[in-house]
Amino acid sequence: MESTVGIGILGAGTVGSALIQRLVDDHVAIAAKTGLDFSVRRVAVRDLGKARAFEVPDGVLTDDPWLVVNDPEVMLVVEVMGGRDRAGDLVFAALEAGKPVVTANKELVASRGLELVAAAERSGVPLLFEAAVGGGIPIIRPLSETLAGEPVERVMGIVNGTTNFILSRMAEDGAEYGEALAEAQALGYAEPDPTADVSGADAAAKASILASLAFGAWVGVDDVYYEGIEDLSPIDMAFASEFGYAIKLLAVAERSAAGISARVHPVLLPVDHPLAAIRGATNAVFIEGESVGELLFSGPGAGGAPTATAVLGDVIDAARGVLAGAEVAPRIRFSPAELIRFDDVATKWYVRLEVEDRPGVLAEIAGAFGDSGVSIKSVWQEGAGDEALLLIVTHRAAEADQRAAVEAIAKLDPVRQVASVLRVESEEA
Ligand SMILES: NC(=O)c1ccc[n+]([C@@H]2O[C@H](COP(=O)([O-])OP(=O)(O)OC[C@H]3O[C@@H](n4cnc5c(N)ncnc54)[C@H](OP(=O)(O)O)[C@@H]3O)[C@@H](O)[C@H]2O)c1
Repeated sequence: MESTVGIGILGAGTVGSALIQRLVDDHVAIAAKTGLDFSVRRVAVRDLGKARAFEVPDGVLTDDPWLVVNDPEVMLVVEVMGGRDRAGDLVFAALEAGKPVVTANKELVASRGLELVAAAERSGVPLLFEAAVGGGIPIIRPLSETLAGEPVERVMGIVNGTTNFILSRMAEDGAEYGEALAEAQALGYAEPDPTADVSGADAAAKASILASLAFGAWVGVDDVYYEGIEDLSPIDMAFASEFGYAIKLLAVAERSAAGISARVHPVLLPVDHPLAAIRGATNAVFIEGESVGELLFSGPGAGGAPTATAVLGDVIDAARGVLAGAEVAPRIRFSPAELIRFDDVATKWYVRLEVEDRPGVLAEIAGAFGDSGVSIKSVWQEGAGDEALLLIVTHRAAEADQRAAVEAIAKLDPVRQVASVLRVESEEA
């Protein structure tokens, strides 16, 4: 027997309109497969005059999102309008009113997740956010349910399709950063204002969510260190490739005896690492667990249709609970995280230097690294007239020590320029 579930949707843009189309077009198939009969009762948008790709009965569309949350016929709320404050207040109110919430909003979950999870727990309703990381890739449910008992050691993800597209173009075609960004914008992979993507901020929100779920300890977005890709040069792309690396913007969440860390920055990744092969706007998340070993999840990290699939899965899951009428225990509990300061995180660095080509320079540079407790793993040098190019890869050392070494090196007489500094992610120390 089918049971009707009234849904309220906050936002009908890229994701919301794809979701509404699916709920309408696939209504019969969804009902046959799940026994659930969904009825879209209310949809909030900002501009009632805008043309929409879907059709809903008169009176369903409103420009007052509170009408959606407060409508007694709305049993379940989907938040796909984005933003932090207004969306957060609406989600909070829905949860307080005992309505399950499905959201795709990583910014909201990463910034107000603890408060919202607590509200959901108080009301005994689910707060689901499969689409908040990796768009159409199932990653939230595997991490929080299937792997709930797994001692996860590390999660590394390519979680921003815009930057992965740009880096792929730079690596494969030698494009400059600006050129690759313009192409991403022309193809609709990058927003007219690409700051959130290229600065690493979007990936940082996703790193916060991945870290919190992987370790069951709350890692807020402010606890995530992040750097973007704006300063990457095709020169480093070419050198990376020559030495067997790909450059990727990675979200890394790690747990060690010292604690938990989460960070986002470009890294040199060995070409045989599964994440090095992820091209274009595709996303991927690589999980390393003590018992399960290595897992790779990859697929479309954005786009209306794939993201709506993830939202719809959550909607179906939450609706089953609504109809069962039972209180839902939270899927995951978050304890306070023992965080490692970014300064203390051990990473390997790649440093490109332009130096005077004369005897003793290398010894001076090695000395400066040594003074900060950083040891050098490999050096590559090429002379050009009275100038030389030096590429140095260090062994693992604390971020603060690596930084101190490079600051000291920048002040050395024969050093003309520290042209670039990147981190290297590989198995060896
Ligand atoms: N796009 C993706 O591929 C993707 C993937 C994963 C997650 N997400 C997340 O999903 C959420 C939605 O993304 P989107 O790309 O669908 O955004 P979008 O295309 O900008 O759509 C936002 C929708 O919300 C409505 N809206 C915004 N502010 C409102 C307000 N104050 N009151 C009422 N309605 C309001 C807009 O109304 P109008 O239509 O009238 O402007 C629009 O329909 C975001 O949190 C995003 O991070 C998106």
